[in-house]
Amino acid sequence: MDSILSNTPTQAQALAARYGAAVPAAGPWNETIAGMLAHRSVRGYRPDAVPPGTLETLIAAASSAATSSNLQTWSVVVVEDPAARAALAEVAGGQKHIIQCPLFMVWIADTSRNERLGIEEGKPLEGLPYLETFLVAAIDAALAAQNAVVAAETLGLSTVYIGALRNDPDRVAKTLGLPPGAAGVFGLCVGYAAAGAEGEVKPRLPQSVVVHHGSYKLEGEPAARAAISCRAEKPLISAS
Ligand SMILES: Cc1cc2nc3c(=O)[nH]c(=O)nc-3n(C[C@H](O)[C@H](O)[C@H](O)COP(=O)(O)O)c2cc1C
Repeated sequence: MDSILSNTPTQAQALAARYGAAVPAAGPWNETIAGMLAHRSVRGYRPDAVPPGTLETLIAAASSAATSSNLQTWSVVVVEDPAARAALAEVAGGQKHIIQCPLFMVWIADTSRNERLGIEEGKPLEGLPYLETFLVAAIDAALAAQNAVVAAETLGLSTVYIGALRNDPDRVAKTLGLPPGAAGVFGLCVGYAAAGAEGEVKPRLPQSVVVHHGSYKLEGEPAARAAISCRAEKPLISAS
């Protein structure tokens, strides 16, 4: 099995690839963290199926994420039907990897299960129509999906999120037969990267910009932004 982690860079190389000149102090390190720093989105896939049981493993990783009040207000739809894939690719502006990848999932912010439960128990839930409730469900879905992404990458699989499904939430809901209270918040392509499509580690903002100690500080932000835009064209570590 191929692995994008097979040429694992050293800690210093991995940090330099992510941060360029703004490398933070080297701290604790292990293979899990190295895998996370090697993340890159992939937009071209080989047709090879993922091995049997992979979906179940990815979902077990997803289910293991923290979940607000243990409510588990997420679901996932695995989309196999080519016509449904084509419709979703159209919603997403023609992203061909949605059709091409061997495993495509749509992650659902899902308060419908609790609504059904409440009705069955004769206790309709009054909090469901609130933005906060949707936010809780969307956060749960995102945390679950990101656990699946990390798990997939440790297995040598590649991924890309598809937020562009939100271009047309109604068509996504219709295509997937979603009940009221269930909203597709993003898709996720999973599969083996095609040759030449492995992508590269992309730079992120320096830690000095995103981390604030005690209170939010603005100084230094324009200079750090300028530094990242200068090096965005030149990745330090490619996938090969
Ligand atoms: C919620 C979410 C939605 C995204 N939607 C798309 C998308 O529709 N199409 C796409 O090609 N990439 C999408 N991406 C991938 C981002 O473009 C990518 O993560 C970002 O450019 C950084 O690149 P990297 O993941 O390779 O580090 C999405 C990422 C996230 C987290």
